[in-house]
Amino acid sequence: MANSTTRRGLLKGGLAVSAGLAGTKAMAAGDPAITEVQDWAQSLGEGVDARPYGSPSGFEAHVKRRNVEWLTADPVSSVNFTPLHELDGIITPNGLCFERHHAGIAEVDPGLHRLMINGLVDTPLVFTMSDLMRFPRENRVYFLECAANTGMEWRGAQLNGCQFTHGMIHNVMYTGVPLRYVLEEAGVKTAGKWILPEGADASAMTRSIPLEKALDDCLLAFKMNGEALRPEQGYPLRLVVPGWEGNMWVKWLRRIEVGDQPWHHREETSKYTDLLADGQARRFTWEMDAKSVITNPSPQAPILHGPGPTVLTGVAWSGRGSIPRVDVTIDGGMNWHQARMSGPSFDKSMHRFYYEFDWDGSPLLLQSRAHDSTGYVQPTKTQLREVRGVNSIYHNNAIQTWAIDEKGRAENVEVS
Ligand code: MTE
Ligand code: CO
Repeated sequence: MANSTTRRGLLKGGLAVSAGLAGTKAMAAGDPAITEVQDWAQSLGEGVDARPYGSPSGFEAHVKRRNVEWLTADPVSSVNFTPLHELDGIITPNGLCFERHHAGIAEVDPGLHRLMINGLVDTPLVFTMSDLMRFPRENRVYFLECAANTGMEWRGAQLNGCQFTHGMIHNVMYTGVPLRYVLEEAGVKTAGKWILPEGADASAMTRSIPLEKALDDCLLAFKMNGEALRPEQGYPLRLVVPGWEGNMWVKWLRRIEVGDQPWHHREETSKYTDLLADGQARRFTWEMDAKSVITNPSPQAPILHGPGPTVLTGVAWSGRGSIPRVDVTIDGGMNWHQARMSGPSFDKSMHRFYYEFDWDGSPLLLQSRAHDSTGYVQPTKTQLREVRGVNSIYHNNAIQTWAIDEKGRAENVEVS
């Protein structure tokens, strides 16, 4: 770490954009990629009837959700991860959104799907999908992060790649009906203070959510990025709970009960609660604190081009608002630089940042630090452990470090 400071290349990092062209090779004489007529130019390609619902180029076959074998005792109650290092911008393509199921993917027939509202309401109601489509809709972009994202990193650097350390997140545009409209239609009784959404899958997952949140910004979503929800994301209907932990976003949503107190079911007691250093568990941690990660370079996306102009990029998000600022360091925290934000900035949505610098070929320690619109700053691992201990597997939003060696290879490490 000591030998990675005060190098000229690092200090002039902010100016590297103008040096960009210097790293580009002059035209090579006799390059067969230019001089030869490639296969794809020698015959006609497929017609417009070949791909009625498109899929990515075969050259992108490595871009996929992946799981971790030792975390996957049985794939029907497990997780796979979004390949963050292969993506750019802020929107996650539907086919790459990580999946977390407690009882596999329910294949629900939308014609037979019903949403029931019962409990402390004036009129218990049942909606078909087409009933729901007659309420006014809204379009909003939100991240969904599982509370267990980065959960394997509490005690030390463990999984080697941002897909595995940070890939339990996706960010899409939802189309849906504000939950408030449907609750107002049923008429919540004065004693009603909580809701209990329930899934139609074999896990019948339930979570207690305060009525205040339900009436604020929750959506009954049926579209993501313009198309129908994918089966793995809860087709035909899922609850969107902006900024709050992913477990509350009940998929295949079939029922919402209104009650006067939380139910304390499995997912909010033995799971998704934070065990602290003194053995006490924190009751309910709903909002996801500000967090960021550098996606490139990273262990699955090493620097392959050698010294010279280098693009560093990553994502940041906060369950409490937007991300006006991200700082990055390439020397393990000795010098911090303000990253360049690019792309739309929405509350409770992913943000994209870049930092272009001139790599001199020596080892680096890369970190990013998010600031959210409330003024909160993403903590170091040491700061987080001081408050939370290391017993939890949930809600780890600490700063992540990637070490880069002379060959541009990256590794998950910790610096104190
Ligand atoms: N809803 C139902 N019905 N069944 C589930 O297993 N998993 C929850 C939540 N909603 C789950 C569910 C968890 S723990 C998370 S993190 C998110 O859905 C994952 O959403 P995704 O599969 O779209 O990534
Ligand atoms: Co989860």
